[in-house]
Amino acid sequence: MNGRLHLAALPAVLLAAAGLAALALLLKPPSAQAPLRIVSSEQCLECHSDVAAEWQASHHAVAFTNPEVRKLSNDFANQECIACHAPRPVLDFAPGERVLARQSNRGSGVDCLACHLGPDGGVATSNPRPLLDAPCRPRFEGRMASVDHCAACHNQHLTVEQWRASPAERRGENCLHCHMPETFRAGGRRGRDHSFRASHDLAALQSAVTLRGGLDPDGAWVEVENSGAAHNFPTDERSRAADVQVRWADANGAWGEWQKLFRFRQPYRDETHLVDTQLPAAQTWTGRPAAPQGASAGEARLLYRTNPYLPDDAAKELHRVPLKP
Ligand code: HEC
Ligand code: HEC
Ligand code: HEC
Ligand code: HEC
Ligand code: HEC
Repeated sequence: MNGRLHLAALPAVLLAAAGLAALALLLKPPSAQAPLRIVSSEQCLECHSDVAAEWQASHHAVAFTNPEVRKLSNDFANQECIACHAPRPVLDFAPGERVLARQSNRGSGVDCLACHLGPDGGVATSNPRPLLDAPCRPRFEGRMASVDHCAACHNQHLTVEQWRASPAERRGENCLHCHMPETFRAGGRRGRDHSFRASHDLAALQSAVTLRGGLDPDGAWVEVENSGAAHNFPTDERSRAADVQVRWADANGAWGEWQKLFRFRQPYRDETHLVDTQLPAAQTWTGRPAAPQGASAGEARLLYRTNPYLPDDAAKELHRVPLKP
């Protein structure tokens, strides 16, 4: 045809072209859809179901409905408590500025928009080369993967300052390294786990500390090292406690009661008779429990309480070691 179309063939070609265009529209990847007007996190949940499932199992998702928070804030009659538990988008505020409470959709707590909504109304990402025409219009924002982003809510008990003084900071491991580890999304895209595992997850708690113990010529010894948290242990929220306990077996091998040896905890403001005994990152505490006469064996364990007044059977046992030579 020498690169020219016969006039008579034109309608058919047009028809075919129109058909192809229609097909192309149908097959269009979601990435080429028209931009969304983003109004609620519900929209994100529909397209990002993998991230959504992780977030829904996290404490960020329950920040406004959490019974513990409701109780302490008198059902949010204390308005001060709303700011970080149902915040406006963090990126609306300059680094270091306190976030403010939002007026709508408070029930979704620290939701997708709280962390991702950029000042231009699109979605902020730390990916320097996002798919620019994806429906949520991801745009690069350097603060997204930085400590400043978490600091907007997580520094009232100085977790971020503790991290700045830790060996992890010098290794370049920020909050995301441990609390949003890398994962893979459908299609092989690199992602970040949104379950934010920490003090409500046994494995995360166990990874924070190492418990060692034994007997030497001077008697029994117990050591706790903050080997896995890049801030104090227990961290941040003042109403946590971790206890070292020991127990001994008598000459017949019968175990006695667990006895308290030491407590790691930051006291409440009104508990002026207590001192702060949190264990800073990379530091080791050593204790010397006295064995009773005739003890045939000893053990030490480390218990974690999300509230210092919880009884032993409501605490989590993180580690246990025998006290032997
Ligand atoms: C209509 C579907 C749809 C909706 C709704 C949507 N997204 Fe997206 N989003 C996508 C697609 C598709 C991509 C591109 C994924 C890729 O790069 O493969 C994307 C990319 C992203 C990225 C960048 C990922 C990267 O590493 O490049 C982020 C962050 C993101 N979305 C967050 C959100 C948030 C938060 C919301 C809610 C405000 C949202 N999205 C709403 C479909 C959607
Ligand atoms: C500056 C931000 C901020 C404000 C204001 C704030 N919180 Fe929080 N709150 C947090 C962060 C961050 C956490 C998670 C850290 C942690 O668990 O240690 C948290 C965790 C909690 C928890 C633990 C929940 C659980 O189940 O583990 C309770 C309870 C709580 N807050 C109650 C309150 C109350 C009551 C107020 C008001 C007096 C308040 N918060 C105000 C940021 C804030
Ligand atoms: C807008 C405020 C806000 C921002 C920003 C924020 N958080 Fe949180 N975070 C909270 C609140 C509030 C809670 C406690 C919710 C509850 O338990 O009721 C929390 C809880 C947590 C927990 C504790 C979970 C548990 O089970 O003990 C971790 C870990 C955490 N956040 C990590 C991060 C990291 C990492 C970042 C930065 C990428 C971040 N957060 C950004 C407000 C925030
Ligand atoms: C090297 C790993 C690591 C890094 C880095 C790290 N954390 Fe943690 N974090 C942990 C571990 C392990 C725990 C559980 C033990 C504990 O509570 O101390 C934890 C606990 C927490 C908790 C739960 C506290 C509570 O009382 O419920 C919060 C909130 C938290 N981290 C925030 C942060 C923030 C914010 C950063 C960055 C400034 C950060 N973490 C950096 C390992 C890490
Ligand atoms: C506490 C803050 C926070 C919340 C809440 C949050 N994100 Fe993220 N998100 C981040 C950070 C930090 C990153 C990692 C840096 C980046 O990729 O921009 C990230 C990365 C992502 C990515 C790209 C990496 C991946 O895992 O695929 C997507 C998509 C995403 N978030 C979607 C969502 C959606 C959807 C929601 C609500 C269900 C949500 N995020 C809630 C902070 C948050």
